[in-house]
Amino acid sequence: MEILRTVEELRQWTRTQRCEGRDGIALVPTMGALHAGHASLIRAAAEVRPGHVAVSIFVNPTQFGPNEDFAKYPRTFAADCALAEREGATVIFAPSVEEMYPAGAATFVDVDGLSDRLDGASRPGHFRGVATVVAKLLNAAEPDLAFFGQKDAAQVAVLRRMVADLRLGAKIVVCPIVRESDGLALSSRNVYLSSAERKQALVLSRAIRRVESLVAGGERLSAVLMEAACSVFAEELEVRMDYIELVDWGTLWPVLSAAPGTLFAVAAWVGKTRLIDNTIIC
Ligand code: PAF
Repeated sequence: MEILRTVEELRQWTRTQRCEGRDGIALVPTMGALHAGHASLIRAAAEVRPGHVAVSIFVNPTQFGPNEDFAKYPRTFAADCALAEREGATVIFAPSVEEMYPAGAATFVDVDGLSDRLDGASRPGHFRGVATVVAKLLNAAEPDLAFFGQKDAAQVAVLRRMVADLRLGAKIVVCPIVRESDGLALSSRNVYLSSAERKQALVLSRAIRRVESLVAGGERLSAVLMEAACSVFAEELEVRMDYIELVDWGTLWPVLSAAPGTLFAVAAWVGKTRLIDNTIIC
């Protein structure tokens, strides 16, 4: 499995695939610290585009706020490459910060109306950084398919809007949330949790399950669903809720009642670690 370091090398790789008359290319953008959730994205990509899967590994500085964890974000490059290769990656794209943001870089992508909702409200500038780097990756790799996890559901909404608006030509494929056996959604940030916090963190998936069971029983009213989720959070006093939202997955605007495809999302601070989870209403 080749490791590409420059945008030009990635472009060249894409061109070669094209010249050889291959179908499209799949891109799996990541920030590394790969876990079973990422593995499921790479596997899904390799299933539909075997031999043409690029996995990018880039801890993107522009999506971190000044007091966030950019410096300490887990960096596990050798293990990431091994996992990506095992799951069917064809190449790794691992550029430097200077490669992605050349000196004097002044161009950013803002997705108005969505970038400041949910995680964007709590993390100003976060989605601007995400949209910018993903636009750069899609522009360089020109994939026909780009794979993202449902766990970052608000990110998916922002990127879908951006891809449609800029006519970037890639289809966004969303893969289901992968969970530990006790329900905790996999996240590269779970490694920050102490063993006590690891237990407290289960409150997020408990709130999600509570809402899913109410919906399964016929409840649709946003106020009732949010109240039920709040009361689950109230059981775990150490955990500080950030948001609980029932929103249209396209616009990220609140809805009064849940319809199929509506996004129910939560975010909370467990100690110093901010975790998110969600479910799509059936
Ligand atoms: O979801 C992530 O890991 C990141 O936000 C992404 C999409 C790779 C952009 O840096």
